[in-house]
Amino acid sequence: ILSKRLLIISNRLPAVIAQGRETWSVKPGTGGLVTALAPVMRENHGVWIGWPGCGDDAPLGSLLHEFEQQQGYRLVSVPLAEQEVERYYRGFSNSAVWPLFHDLLGNCHFELSHWQAYDAVNRKFAAVIDEQARSEDFIWVHDYQLMLVGSHLRAMGRSDRLAFFLHIPFPSPDLFRRLPWKNQLIQGLLAYDQIGFQTLRDRRNFVQTAAMLMPELEIVSRQRHHTLLRLGERVIKVGHYPISIDFVEFDDFARSREVEDAAWYLHENLRGRQLMLGIDRLDYTKGIPERFLAFERALEKYPALMRRISLLQVVIPSRTLVPDYANLKELLDQLAGRINARFGQPEWVPIHYVFRCLERVQLLARYRTSEIALVTPLRDGMNLVAKEYCASSVENNGVLILSEFAGAADQLGKHALLVNPYDTDGTADAIYRAFTMDPEERRQRMAQLRSEIRRNDVHRWLRRFVEAGDDEDDDG
Ligand code: G6P
Repeated sequence: ILSKRLLIISNRLPAVIAQGRETWSVKPGTGGLVTALAPVMRENHGVWIGWPGCGDDAPLGSLLHEFEQQQGYRLVSVPLAEQEVERYYRGFSNSAVWPLFHDLLGNCHFELSHWQAYDAVNRKFAAVIDEQARSEDFIWVHDYQLMLVGSHLRAMGRSDRLAFFLHIPFPSPDLFRRLPWKNQLIQGLLAYDQIGFQTLRDRRNFVQTAAMLMPELEIVSRQRHHTLLRLGERVIKVGHYPISIDFVEFDDFARSREVEDAAWYLHENLRGRQLMLGIDRLDYTKGIPERFLAFERALEKYPALMRRISLLQVVIPSRTLVPDYANLKELLDQLAGRINARFGQPEWVPIHYVFRCLERVQLLARYRTSEIALVTPLRDGMNLVAKEYCASSVENNGVLILSEFAGAADQLGKHALLVNPYDTDGTADAIYRAFTMDPEERRQRMAQLRSEIRRNDVHRWLRRFVEAGDDEDDDG
């Protein structure tokens, strides 16, 4: 799909570096992006630039070398000092942009020193790209931590074609203008030649925000898949490309012997109860407390659920040094404790709440076994858990309850049960509806969800993004 060499830039390198008892190890990350890009990276000897995310004591040089030997493409690390991690990563990226872009103004902390560090670290990334990039590379920057990299590359005199993809939502103009550095950020984004968003809504929000803040910006044309903007001499293509998963990989693995055995074991322990699953990174955008309260309301309203259903909530540790994340962890402990104390009975715990990472076999076994998945973020760029759950529901018997504020609702909304996570009663009703849904309706809905995800998988996402960038003037 791509004859050019790929230069991928993301905040984190696609490698998991871990310290064992005696030795260090390196493994590829398991995210959809890594899976989709790896074959193309291998074929064209791509380079991935990012922060290694580990301490200074790791033997980084030899670990990166080992990765290259195993995976067939090269990693270039951008090391960050502790103060940079604090201000750029925990600070501006995760305490200003992250909440603002997820419509959670109340969680935003705007600080000048954080903004300055964000700008400086983005410049640092740009300098590494400037060193590595050859003309004819496909230079592709990812996500909200690196929005200013393009403009720094321009300031360094680079005129290469630059592509950017935002994995999280883009807020409405009215929210965006709360940011003290709104103009700089929009100008920064407009230094890219191709800007991709997850949904049509995000793309529209961006175009409206840019037009509001930059009167000299001209909207040249609006097509189904993209909008063309002109700024001075430059034309900028703004599109939406919903990211996805490798459907076949999940489907195959979910049918494997290992997963089947683990699923069987889980099932035996349920003794006829339905299992409702939630899996999220620890994050206040995921609506986990709201979900616990909705389940509590369901138990109040529908006593038939008592002893017949349990919520298994897996929370994967994330960003725990950011204060709002640490607070959330405490709140979840309290809520689960209170609800279990109120409704629990001998031999029945309403909420099983675990705070840890899951092995892949265990994850897929849970996807396969759960009769219901509760994916109820307050706002989410896409949400791949929703897609992974369906791809792993090889028995076609799961029900997906999905927030209307997840990007995934654009593709899955017709066949999932859509809920507003702020509506406790509505979500409680959806839980009861999923619990009582007959097997035929479950089968039909899940079959539709699976065929949608199979068709629009992550490989198609990659092709669409890259091809949109390749035919630069199809309607210019
Ligand atoms: C989201 C973001 C990614 C980020 C990931 C994990 O999916 O879009 O850019 O890498 O969360 O968060 P972390 O802060 O641990 O990288």
